[in-house]
Amino acid sequence: MQTEHKIILANSQQMPELNGSSIHLMVTSPPYPMIKMWDAQFGRINPQIATLWQKLETDGGEETVTQIYDAMHETLARTWRETFRVLVDGGIACINIGDATRTVNGKFRLFPNHSRIIEHCEKTGFTTLPYILWKKPTTKPKYKGKGAFLGSGFLPPNAYVTLDCEFILIFRKGKLKKFPPNDNRRYKSAFTKKQRDEWFTQIWNVKGTRQTTSQLERRTAAYPDEIVNRLIRMFSVKGDTVLDPFLGSGTTTKSAIQNERNSIGYETDETLLPLIKKKTGFQSTASKLTLIRRKN
Ligand SMILES: C[S@@+](CC[C@H](N)C(=O)[O-])C[C@H]1O[C@@H](n2cnc3c(N)ncnc32)[C@H](O)[C@@H]1O
Repeated sequence: MQTEHKIILANSQQMPELNGSSIHLMVTSPPYPMIKMWDAQFGRINPQIATLWQKLETDGGEETVTQIYDAMHETLARTWRETFRVLVDGGIACINIGDATRTVNGKFRLFPNHSRIIEHCEKTGFTTLPYILWKKPTTKPKYKGKGAFLGSGFLPPNAYVTLDCEFILIFRKGKLKKFPPNDNRRYKSAFTKKQRDEWFTQIWNVKGTRQTTSQLERRTAAYPDEIVNRLIRMFSVKGDTVLDPFLGSGTTTKSAIQNERNSIGYETDETLLPLIKKKTGFQSTASKLTLIRRKN
């Protein structure tokens, strides 16, 4: 099946290129709030966040930490609201997110990103569905360069539980999706019993990609093909359109091509373009790929 794919180099907080109710599935992994590697990017997209980090250096206040965390989630929430607008009734949104642990102001704590996203998406109008825990073998705890648990080793009570799962949050817009009686695309997109039994369980043991991929791909924190392949097959049918508002290296576009879905990806970092082109086979694929630069 010939499918169409658009890569839009622009900020997904607004998606004027997309009509309302035109997307069947959203699959994404955004920058993770309070994970250091994403601080600068949050500051670029929302300069108020950069100003707050500077304020924290001088005032060291708990309230400022809360303001930074709130502002990061509000920055992401703009994209969740746009996603709600463009999804069809019955459309699904899957968001891969990890919680963050960090010492700020000398205090070690958890920033539970998954619960903040659930709150924002519910406020937007989404219905929360049962989520998946992705158990990542690549996030073994490291302490002073060696595998170890954080805190005080074998002595209670000051050691910390390791974050070795990420979340794949699942939301629905509106009511259950309906298909006309003569539309057999669902049957052509069916999965096997083995796939059903494996994919619809809550804990997924899927190997991460970090150790084997390039420096550039590591910077995008690419998720494995297997994760997005499963989500696309679970929550869309052949010929549907899949959106990734935080495209990174283009894993979602690649998977959409392989699974005969159309796709649209948004990305602000133009330096990722060579990687996206390489990953998606920009020139070689039989499917149609279009690159769009939004004019400001
Ligand atoms: C965690 S990475 C996505 C990784 C991706 N799943 C992959 O497999 O490569 C998040 C990406 O979102 C991009 N980004 C951040 N904020 C954005 C925004 N508002 N609009 C579009 N892209 C954004 C970043 O540049 C980064 O490449």
